[in-house]
Amino acid sequence: MKFFLDTANIAEIEEAASWGVLSGVTTNPTLYAREGGKLAGFHAHLKRICEIVDGPVSGETVGLARDEIVREAQELSAIAPNLVVKVPTMPEGLAATKVLASMGISVNMTLCFSVPQALLAARAGARYVSPFVGRFDDISEDGVDQLGQIVAALANYDFRHEVEVIAASIRSASHVTKAALLGADIATVPFAVLKNLVKHPLTDRGLESFLADWEKVKNA
Ligand code: E4P
Repeated sequence: MKFFLDTANIAEIEEAASWGVLSGVTTNPTLYAREGGKLAGFHAHLKRICEIVDGPVSGETVGLARDEIVREAQELSAIAPNLVVKVPTMPEGLAATKVLASMGISVNMTLCFSVPQALLAARAGARYVSPFVGRFDDISEDGVDQLGQIVAALANYDFRHEVEVIAASIRSASHVTKAALLGADIATVPFAVLKNLVKHPLTDRGLESFLADWEKVKNA
């Protein structure tokens, strides 16, 4: 499984990149707004992220009509070679994805909540499909189960080899474990979750006792 960071925060991205485990970044309008982002600085902000990350960086379109999405996507994809255009799952989004795929522009189809949506995204030529796990849990449904169904359904068809599943809207280490067991290619996680993934109380306790014993060795 590859790990993407789900953030628009530059400091978080730099820190995660320094750990050597970061394969990409996903952003969305909410994450950019959370950083106090302004329209005028949007492209420059994505460019900075693309420079830090050695891997795909998703920047999202906000247009609702096919041609508008395609135009936005062309502008975004000109920012950097590793910029991937994120397009919402909707009829005009599928139509735009078809056009963008024919232009060689990679699309991450986002806001995906069902098997049919994922199959349509793949059929339209999306390079990535992003099922949202946590938002199902937020409404007391089983997001992991939905993710498993999407991974299994895509595996029944040839395009499984061309589409990577990004487990998105991840809230916990348990989500990541379950997504990996289901065969999701990527988990895109907030920085707080990434930090939790590294931690285990037994690791902390073990390290503490190793260091204490090493003090004894030094003083022996
Ligand atoms: C996916 O790429 C989205 O940016 C993200 O995972 C949404 O997660 P949220 O439900 O925590 O907003």
